[in-house]
Amino acid sequence: MGIAWITAFKSISFPASCNTPLALLCLFGLTLLHLSFAQDTQQDYLKAHNDARAAVGVGPLTWDDKVAAYAGDYANKRLGDCKLVHSDGSYGENIAWGSAGLSGMAAVKMWVDEKKSYNYNSNSSAAGAVCGHYTQVVWRNSVRLGCAKVRCNSGGTFITCNYDPRGNYAGQKPYSVDPLVKLGLLEGFQIVRRLDVGNSMPQHTK
Ligand SMILES: *[C@@H]1O[C@H](CO)[C@@H](O)[C@H](O)[C@H]1NC(C)=O
Repeated sequence: MGIAWITAFKSISFPASCNTPLALLCLFGLTLLHLSFAQDTQQDYLKAHNDARAAVGVGPLTWDDKVAAYAGDYANKRLGDCKLVHSDGSYGENIAWGSAGLSGMAAVKMWVDEKKSYNYNSNSSAAGAVCGHYTQVVWRNSVRLGCAKVRCNSGGTFITCNYDPRGNYAGQKPYSVDPLVKLGLLEGFQIVRRLDVGNSMPQHTK
């Protein structure tokens, strides 16, 4: 059974190092490869967003293939330079750049982490800080999400998430405050559930 599996891989011209004596090493390599993609699934992007939304009483986003296709097309346009430049389309958009290992979940975490400098009452961030990515993440009227990630030719990673309808409308607040959140109940619950995606690599958002 195991042998048949390895043979199947050899038949799609695996590198020479994958011949039988080193097959285990190759299996290990495949597992790592798999893990490195494990934080970039639709469910990962959705969970990272929807946990942040639930923490302030905002309903979940759903994945949308059309929005995701837009994100994918735009991510491919950044393959050559990995630049933190917005697509300037009609969707809301958060983008991130990082080193090779930047995962989708870590990118969303960067945006969500702006929460600590966001003041709901004044709807603004602490001096020198930004929170526009966070307000897009929790924007109640944005209900559809699509994200994409590319490894740029330079070796960096470019990640983009699009939101439909777009958030950060001038003169509006992202959401109205849920009474449970005011009591601190939902927030406490979310902290217990939150998956910590620690990441010390250089990374930037726009
Ligand atoms: C709240 O902040 C968002 C994000 O910066 C902004 O787009 C929106 O205009 C602000 N709303 C108000 C009422 O100031």
